Amino acid sequence: MEFGTILAYWWLNARIWILHQLAWCKTFPTIDPRSEEIIAQVAEGDEEDVNRAVKAARNAFEKGPWPRMTAYERSKILFRYADLLEQHSDELVALDVLDNGKTIDQATFAEMPNVIRWFRYYAGWADKIHGMTLQADSPHHVHTLHEPIGVVGQIVPWNFPIIMFSWKVAPALACGNTVVLKSAELTPLSAILAGTLALEAGVPPGVLNIISGFGHTAGAAIASHMDIDKVAFTGSTEVGRSVMEAAARSNLKPVTLELGGKSPFIVCGDADIDKALELSHLALFFNQGQTCCAGSRTFVHESVYDEFVEKAKKKAENRVLGDPFQSGVEHGPQVDISQFNKVMKYIGYGKEQGATLLTGGERHGDKGFYIQPTVFADVGDSMAISRDEIFGPVQCISKFKTLEEVVERANNTQYGLAAGVFTQSLDTANFLSRALKVGTVWVNTYYAFDAAIPFGGYKMSGFGREKGEYVLKNYLQVKAVVTPLKNPAWL
Ligand code: NAI
Ligand code: MG
Repeated sequence: MEFGTILAYWWLNARIWILHQLAWCKTFPTIDPRSEEIIAQVAEGDEEDVNRAVKAARNAFEKGPWPRMTAYERSKILFRYADLLEQHSDELVALDVLDNGKTIDQATFAEMPNVIRWFRYYAGWADKIHGMTLQADSPHHVHTLHEPIGVVGQIVPWNFPIIMFSWKVAPALACGNTVVLKSAELTPLSAILAGTLALEAGVPPGVLNIISGFGHTAGAAIASHMDIDKVAFTGSTEVGRSVMEAAARSNLKPVTLELGGKSPFIVCGDADIDKALELSHLALFFNQGQTCCAGSRTFVHESVYDEFVEKAKKKAENRVLGDPFQSGVEHGPQVDISQFNKVMKYIGYGKEQGATLLTGGERHGDKGFYIQPTVFADVGDSMAISRDEIFGPVQCISKFKTLEEVVERANNTQYGLAAGVFTQSLDTANFLSRALKVGTVWVNTYYAFDAAIPFGGYKMSGFGREKGEYVLKNYLQVKAVVTPLKNPAWL
C-alpha cells in the first residue's frame, strides 16, 4: 500500500473513531470484497434521516429555484455536472472497484464513459420537454403541460453503483424533480462523491439528497413515505414487490421497478459461432455474473452444440481472475459473503441435479469472495440453476432442436428482461424478436446500452422503462389546460 493511501485510511478511521466516541452518528462498515476487510465506516441513514431528506427535497421543490429556472439553465447545470463527473472519473471508478470488486478495466472503459454520456444525454433533454396543443371537439383551446412529479424516491442496488445512480438521477433532475436517493448498503461510496459534485456543479441544495443505509430501514421509509411523489426501484423481485406494497399502502405513489432476470441467449445453427461464443461468455461473466440482464440461459442448436460447449469451456478457463485493480484482470470477487454463498449453493444444486460441470465450480483462493468461472452443460429446464437468478459466474448451456421449441422454453420463466439471438437469417431474427416476451432483444450483439435505447422488463422483471426518451414519462405529470374559445370561427 502506498504511503498516501495509508495516511488516507488512518485519517478516515481516526475521524470515524472520534465520531463514534462522540456518538454523533450511527455508522456501518463497507467491505472490500478482495480482502474481506473494512474499507471505511459510513454514516447510516435511517427513517429519521429519510424524513429530513424529504423535507429538504420538498422545500427545494416547492420554494427553490430548480423547477422554476428556465429549462436551459437546468440543462447547463447538468452539462456542468457531467463535466465534473468526467474530471473525477478516476476516483469514482476506484470507489466502485474498491466497494464492489468489479474490474478497473470494466469500470473505466465500459461504465464511467456511459455515466457521463447519460448525464449529457439528459442535460440535452432538459430543454426539449414540453406538452402539446390538442384539437378539441368543442370550442376550447386545449394544451398540455408536462410538469415534474415532485419529490422522487430512488433505491438502487450494488451491482452497478455509479451507473444506477446516473440512470436514476439524470432523467429525474432533467425533468425538474427533486430527489432522495438511497444507495445500496454494500456499495455506498461512489454516490457520496457524486452527490458532492452535484452541489459543485450548481445543483441547488436540497435538490439531490443521498442517503447511505439499509433497505429495511431507510429503503422501506422511502417506499412508504407520505410525502414522496414517486419511487423508482432497481433490485430483487422480492424487494420490488414490497416496495410496491408499501407505495400502495401509503400515498399510492406511482412505482417503477427494474428487477431480476433469467435471460435466454439463443444460438441458432446458422450463427457465427465464434462471435456468439464470445458474446455468450460476456453476457454471463461480465461483472462476475452480477447483472440483471445477464444471458444466464444459453440455448444452443443441436447442430453446433458440441463445438460450442467445447469452446465455452476453454473460454471460461482462460478468463483472467485476480485483483480487480490490476489492468488486464477480467474477473474479480463477488460483492459479499452472502452473494458468494448464494452462488456456491447454486453450483451445488447444479452438480446434484445432474448438469455436466465442464469447468470451475470452486472458490478461487482462500481470501476474498472469488469464484471460478463455472460452466455447466446439459442443463435441464427444471433444474434450479436454470430457473432461478443465480447472479454469479455460472453459465448454463442447454441444447435445442427447433425454433418453436426454443421460444417456448425461453419464455417459460417468471422473468422477461432481455434476450440474445444469434442467427444469420433475417427471418429467424424477426421471428424470435417478436416471439420472445422480454424488454430488450439483442440480435447478434449483447449489452448494447446506448443512452437512447430504452431498458426494462416484461412480467416479473418489472415495469416502466429507463433510459432514452421513454424514461421521461416516469418523472413527469401531464396536466391538461382547457380554456373556452370566444370566436368559434377560429376553431
Ligand atoms: P435487494 O433487492 O435486497 O437490494 C436492492 C436495494 O433495495 C438495496 O438498496 C437495498 O438496500 C434495498 N432494499 C432492501 N430491502 C428493502 C425494503 N424492504 N424496502 C426498500 N428497499 C429495500 O437485493 P440484494 O439482497 O442485495 O440481492 C439479492 C438478490 O437480488 C441478488 O442475488 C440478485 O438475484 C437480485 N438483485 C438483482 C438486481 C438487479 O439489478 N436486478 C440488483 C441486486 C440484486
Ligand atoms: Mg436484500
